[in-house]
Amino acid sequence: MTSFDCKNKFKPLTEGTYLKNAEEYKRLYKQSIEDPNAFWYEKAQEFLTWDKSFTTISSGTLKQGNVKYFEDGYLNVYQNCVLRHKEKKPNDVALIYEADDPEDARTITWLELSEQVQLYARVLKHLGVKKGDVVTIYMSTSPEAVYAMLACSYVGAIHSVIFGGFSSEAIKARVLDSKSRFIVTQNLARRRGKLVPMKATVDRAIGGLDFIRSVLVDERVSNMKDQFEMKSNRDIDLKPFVSEFQKGGKYENENADLQAMSMNAEDPLFLLYTSGSTGKPKALIHTTGGYLLNAALTHKTVFDIREGDRYGCMADLGWITGHTYIVYAPLVNGTTTLLFESTPDYPRITRYWEVIDKWGLTQFYTSPTAVRFVMTYGTEPLKDFSLKSLRVIGSVGEPIGVEAWNWYFKNVGKSKCYLVDTYWMTESGAIMISAIPGVTTLKRGSATLPLFGINPQLLLNGDNPQNQELNLEKKSKKQFLEIAENSQSGILTIKGHWPSITRTILGNHKRYLDTYLNPYPGYFLTGDSAYRDMDGLYFIKGRIDDVLNVSAHRFGTSELESAITLHPNTVEVAVVGMPHKIKGEAIFVFCVLKDKRVDEKKTKNELKVLLQKTISKVATPEHIVLVDSLPKTRSGKIMRRILKKIVTKNYEISTYGDLSTLLNPDSVKQIVQNVKKLF
Ligand code: WTA
Repeated sequence: MTSFDCKNKFKPLTEGTYLKNAEEYKRLYKQSIEDPNAFWYEKAQEFLTWDKSFTTISSGTLKQGNVKYFEDGYLNVYQNCVLRHKEKKPNDVALIYEADDPEDARTITWLELSEQVQLYARVLKHLGVKKGDVVTIYMSTSPEAVYAMLACSYVGAIHSVIFGGFSSEAIKARVLDSKSRFIVTQNLARRRGKLVPMKATVDRAIGGLDFIRSVLVDERVSNMKDQFEMKSNRDIDLKPFVSEFQKGGKYENENADLQAMSMNAEDPLFLLYTSGSTGKPKALIHTTGGYLLNAALTHKTVFDIREGDRYGCMADLGWITGHTYIVYAPLVNGTTTLLFESTPDYPRITRYWEVIDKWGLTQFYTSPTAVRFVMTYGTEPLKDFSLKSLRVIGSVGEPIGVEAWNWYFKNVGKSKCYLVDTYWMTESGAIMISAIPGVTTLKRGSATLPLFGINPQLLLNGDNPQNQELNLEKKSKKQFLEIAENSQSGILTIKGHWPSITRTILGNHKRYLDTYLNPYPGYFLTGDSAYRDMDGLYFIKGRIDDVLNVSAHRFGTSELESAITLHPNTVEVAVVGMPHKIKGEAIFVFCVLKDKRVDEKKTKNELKVLLQKTISKVATPEHIVLVDSLPKTRSGKIMRRILKKIVTKNYEISTYGDLSTLLNPDSVKQIVQNVKKLF
């Protein structure tokens, strides 16, 4: 594994970074683990403005599942995210809105942001939204969605953002589960130039739900009144309604001096639904003080945030990445943050590169899926763009793999930017493991080292030392061991707690305990396994449920996939295990080719040899099936669950669960047909 010495390669970037060098990181990291209260006390003063200071820094334990941070402290989210920056730099840009159509792009200053959030808050107040109410937000990644999110905490409400591409069934389940009486949406959205019926989808979701009090509808696309219905006494046309609260409007004086709510540090800030390996999506709750603090600290550290930066995260607001690293972290840090409403290939495959040069982005943060997608077009689309404003490029969501890492580093980062592979999850609230500019020696494919307060431990399952994987079915308290040595793999857990850890699952604390805290008392179970190399750097192997055991040899699916994508004609790959009489599990490869006009038999053989060569003969795949696309969630995750069903010869699509939330539900039929032909 090649590593890059940051001192030589990144000299210009190592000057003036938040952390000066590796020694400073080591010293602070040690303090954050050994004397966490001293560490977090200092950072809480540095990053946040408190209405009422706290006397307790943290309390509770992971074993008991009652962790709290700054529990008697009070803070005001609006003040931290907006007001203090507005006072300092009212006319600087707070939000850059890169709308679906690049022609619709606009910027919003701190002053404008403060005015809009206040107006939205007065609207919510007028409608009767109270502290602790859940407000559902179903919108595209747009300034209005950010206003709505911030207006919630302004009045003490909890937002529940639902990804704008989810179906009405998905919305209904979430609205019912969270008993959310208020919904903020758009009339329609634009996605790749096409109109998406947002309000009509909400209507289908909430038909018959009598407890819904108000549906606020922002006119994202003008003159579309005939596309949906407005129910009197419930639905409100948001833009003219907001105007009524401005000067000269009907409600001009109503709550004109409404002050943002001072929140207890442990008050919920938002809930966010996420899928586990089993069961229905669950609402994870994040609280105010600890979450905001760790969001801001990790953002500053990992992205080397400086005054005047223009930071761009390409995620959707509907995911945790959007919550933490588009909205809360940049706003707490007073950083200009970009809202990207489109896709990397709309209206042209050069869209990402246009956005970077147009706004002079200093940081660019996206997913390996997106990198692999743009990679398929080669470097030609990049030739007219300098990308010279970039200092840090980031990756999140899945293991990036060596090939995509190299391409991203070389062609986007021009071999000069720090590439931060950021490992974290909805549950952690903020990045847990990542390289840090000015500090870490980068290593291809490695998320590298833990951030402050994160104490990763690889566990060996003592019940079955031959099989380090956790049997998720059996939630019994098992014997387990911390793996002390390097060059080892194990179950990735975090020992002890940190400020932004999710506190519970809405309405189901038992499920929270059973999923994350009870399997290994005192440790948070990430659900991933990892390899710690000889230098102590972490390589995330993938979800535990995605690890294959072939003839008693363990392979991470991502490890196998990474190997296959080294073949120049592969775009995307998914590997799943299929039951096998002799080997226990056999490797089944689904592969999307760049150029489909090739000799299939020859290509399959090349892939087989590649796996044998890069990993081992034991990694010889049982089957390789070439397909046009792989079933993916809206956040770009390959749905291995479906592929696993198909390889066990279950061809009944109706038994695969709700496919409406997939990006490309049609892919499933083709895959079933191709697999059927094999047997
Ligand atoms: C995976 C996304 C490898 C991991 C922020 C985790 C990663 C799950 C990385 C959480 C990374 C996320 N390298 N794997 N840099 N980042 N993952 O909740 O399996 O959507 O458990 O949060 O994504 O996904 P989630």
